[in-house]
Order: sequence, then C-alpha cells, then structure tokens
Amino acid sequence: MKILVTGGAGFIGSHVVDLYIEHGYEVVVVDDLSTGRLSNLNLAATFYQLDIRNPQLEEVFVNERPDIVNHHAAQMDVRRSVAEPLFDADVNILGSLNLIECARRHQVKRVVYSSTGGAVYGEPEYLPCDEAHPINPICQYGASKHTVEHYLFMYQQNYGLEYSILRYPNVYGPRQDPYGEAGVVAIFTGQMLAGEEVVINGDGEQQRDFVYVADCAQANLLALTSGDGSGIYNLGSGRGTTINEIFTTLQTITRYEKDPMHAPPKLGETRRIYLTAEKAQREIGWSATTALEKGLAQTVDYFRTSERLTPVRLTPTSIQVEARAGGTDGHSQDALSQLVGESTGKATETSRGGSDTNQFTDTLDQIYAFSHELVNPPDQNATLQRLLELALGSVGAVSGSVLVLDEDRRIHDGALMYSGQSDGYDPQQLEDTLDRGLAGWVVEHGQAALIPNTCEDSRWLQRSWEADYGSSRSVISVPLMARDRVVGVLTLAHSEPGRFTEKDLALLVTIAGVVYLKGEKAISVQPSG
Ligand SMILES: NC(=O)c1ccc[n+]([C@@H]2O[C@H](COP(=O)([O-])OP(=O)(O)OC[C@H]3O[C@@H](n4cnc5c(N)ncnc54)[C@H](O)[C@@H]3O)[C@@H](O)[C@H]2O)c1
Repeated sequence: MKILVTGGAGFIGSHVVDLYIEHGYEVVVVDDLSTGRLSNLNLAATFYQLDIRNPQLEEVFVNERPDIVNHHAAQMDVRRSVAEPLFDADVNILGSLNLIECARRHQVKRVVYSSTGGAVYGEPEYLPCDEAHPINPICQYGASKHTVEHYLFMYQQNYGLEYSILRYPNVYGPRQDPYGEAGVVAIFTGQMLAGEEVVINGDGEQQRDFVYVADCAQANLLALTSGDGSGIYNLGSGRGTTINEIFTTLQTITRYEKDPMHAPPKLGETRRIYLTAEKAQREIGWSATTALEKGLAQTVDYFRTSERLTPVRLTPTSIQVEARAGGTDGHSQDALSQLVGESTGKATETSRGGSDTNQFTDTLDQIYAFSHELVNPPDQNATLQRLLELALGSVGAVSGSVLVLDEDRRIHDGALMYSGQSDGYDPQQLEDTLDRGLAGWVVEHGQAALIPNTCEDSRWLQRSWEADYGSSRSVISVPLMARDRVVGVLTLAHSEPGRFTEKDLALLVTIAGVVYLKGEKAISVQPSG
C-alpha cells in the first residue's frame, strides 16, 4: 500500500513516515520545507519538495497513485494565524482543499487528517473534552483546521472518500523545532540546554495535554485501516499539565539553575484544555502510553545530542533530485545536472555561457560518478580521499580535510590533502593539521564543536583568519550528514583570504548533498576491521 504523507519532513509527519516505512508501507512525502527539515526525512521515502497549494500536486498523484493520504502539512503556528489570518487560511484551508480534490480525482481510499484538539474546542465547557464538545475555536488556526474537517465530511458523504480525523493535543518529542514559536517543550529544552533565559507566557498555570510524538505516530498507523472511515478521534492523555510543571520537570532533567521569566499571556490561547481519548481507545485501539517524565527525558536526550549537531541545513535540491532520478542512469545524470544548476544558481548561469563551461561539466560528471561510488564503498578511506579530491578539484582549493566523527563527536576517521597530494588517515598528522588551524574552529582538540552558523545563507561557513604561522587563509566548511546527525565535516582551505566564491560554496554544498543522499552507507563510524 502506498501512502502520501504531506508535511513528512516536519516534526510529527516525519515520525509517522518512519513508522509507516518500518511497517512496510511505501511512502511518498510532499513537503515545501517551510518549517520541515531534510534531516528529518526518511531516505526510504520518495520526496517531492512542493507546496500543497501548488496545482502541480496533481502530477504527484498521477506519478505515484497513492492509496491513502496522510495530511500533516500546515501552517501550525497559533500566533502567526492571529497575525496573518489570510496566510493561515490559504495554507490550511485552500491547500488542504487542493489536496482533497486530488485525492478524490485519483481514487484515494482514505485521508488521515491531523486536526487539533487543543484549538478547535476553544475555552472548554467541561473537561476533559470529548469529541461531542461544542466547537468554538478562539484562534484563526483552530478555525482553519476545523474547516477541513467539514470538507472531509462532505467528501465522504458525496464521493465516498473515507477519513480518519485525529485531533491532537500538545505533541512533543524529538525533532520538534526549538527555534519556532510553537512547541513549549522544545523551546524550553533548547533554552535550558543553552543556558538561556526561559520565558513563560502568563502565570504558567495554564493547562495543556501533552502526548509524546511516538504515541501520536502510533495513532496514525492505526487510523490507516481501523475505524469506519468517518471517525473523529481525540488523542490525549486525559490529564492537564501546567506550563509550570513542564518547566520544573525539564529543569530537573537538564539541571537548569535559573528561575523562569514571565511575559504577558498571548492572545488566542486557551486557559485549560485536556482531552479524553476514550473513543480512540474503543474504536481504533489507541491510548497514550508514554509517561510524561519519560517522554521529556527522551526529548532532552535528543536535543543534547543530534539536535545540537545539526545546526546547518543542506540544500533541499539534493533530495528532490533523488526523488526525480527514478533510478535510470540517464535520468540521474539529468537530475544531478539540475541539482548542480539549482544550487549554484546565478553563478552557474554565468559559467554556462562563459569559459568555464567545460569545468562545470567535468565537475558534474565527477559528482555523478562519485554518487555511484558512495552507494557501496569498497574502502571508506579511499572513498573519503576521493571525496576530498573531488571537492578540492571543484573549487580549486589548495588543501583540505574530510573528517568522520564518532558518536561522541571525536574524530573517527579522515583524509587530508595538501596541494594535490592525498594522504590516508594518520591520526597524528590529522591532529597536527588541526593544531595548525586548518579546521580548528570546526573541530577543536579532536572533538567537533558546535558549528557556528553565522551566515545568512545558513548552509555553509566561510572564514578567513591569521593562522599560527602568519599567513591569512580562507576556509570553507560544510557538514556531511546522514539522517539526523552530522557524521563528518568537509573543510577546504586556500592561502588567500576571500578566495572562495559563491559558486565554490554552492558546489561544495552540492557535493555534501550527494553524501547526504548516500552517506549512511558510505560513511560509517564502525571500525573497518
Ligand atoms: N505539534 C502539535 O502539538 C500539533 C497539535 C495539533 C495539531 N498539529 C498538526 O500536526 C501537523 C504537523 O505539525 P508539526 O508540529 O509536525 O509541525 P511542523 O511545522 O514540524 O510540520 C509541518 C510540515 O508541513 C510542511 N508544510 C507547511 N506548509 C506547507 C505547504 N504549504 N506545503 C507543503 N508543506 C508544507 C512544513 O515544511 C513541515 O514539514 C499540522 O497539521 C498541525 O496542525 C500539531
């Protein structure tokens, strides 16, 4: 069975995708990456980077012919919905309608829709809320999410398109965006781990129902086939937890020492809400099983490790290309060509018409050949050296290093190159190089430091500095990623400051993107034996 998941690169959607794939379903993801991340995306899914409002969505249905649609893509920020109600309605209502129309036209059997129990009931008349509670949203987001429930009802009545509507409580867990406006657990966790001030809006006595994301994903699994095809289910723990309780529990787990600050309460937010999931238990066999303390501890663990290691977003085009490549070689080459074209942007347009067209084509061929090599590397070290040579050659750098990191961010493996001469991994030589500052600001004392993400572009870093031995250099560095974590760092250096161009950076990001696609197999921190 094939399932199309919208928002599958987002927080909850990506967990749903993982669970579906784990259960053997074929998954297609549509996500515009407005708040989602490539690093969340399961590599076994086919990915289309597309806005659900785009008429091209139809093509995805034509190509993929999904049996079921799971709809997670949304503008899901309550405060943004209050500030920009037209945008909220455009994405959440018109975008959903575009999707539901495609589902109808292409004989989709069922739509599983993520609605919100936290926002459709408004200020509850009784607690815990069940599904029969009056619908009285007090924010635009609640109204737009609920509107889609009406459309689903109508499409079921008129066209037989089945639905399972899941009304979520406050979902929390790994991959929630700690930098956003929504998701108090992620925000507090991020701030506590960084030692920053934590701000509680209002007195903190407002109550919410917190459910761990894995439980929520489980409901999406059950909702595929259980129920009668016209079911609305609250997901909830049945228990209200105050924001102050969340603060103190996280404070204990993270050993945060400061007191919280308080800001005025936010417009459009409910004072107390929690949901009963008795109907979900009865009809689809779901209940929330993860205790709050356990879920919060797992969330903190996640933010302590992988989240801090993924501060840089890679170019989205790399994954899109994989999805379009479709497996045949001719196709892949076209796709890679497009990838390089897209990520080099304007710089490429100039180079296509200019004298370095051949160099561009050569680079493209090399990246293409290298992407094949990465699938099944005969020898990791040789592959790393080839990666380095390719990167150096592409941008005309004089020296560089590629480092593979272990779980503790220590250097596990690597390759070095000076002025065209390549060396295998020699720990001493690598340490010496780092001492001399080649990649010292990315990797300190053999351990990868947090990569400071100061560039507007946010995909790369460039820095010039006076090295110990007196001459200025410019250095560019990009993370090599596999799934949720940084597995390595590719750094190139040139002896002249400001030597690297936009195009160089774009090519390097492209190369890193290819590693991202294949990296899990190519770069391994297991001892090679
Ligand atoms: N997080 C919660 O506690 C919660 C509570 C109630 C309901 N929900 C619902 O769950 C769903 C997922 O929320 P989340 O917390 O994972 O948020 P999220 O922002 O992480 O996920 C939303 C995903 O949709 C994508 N997206 C946004 N607009 C899009 C568009 N126009 N076209 C294509 N993709 C688009 C984003 O890039 C992102 O990957 C949403 O529908 C939200 O309304 C979440």
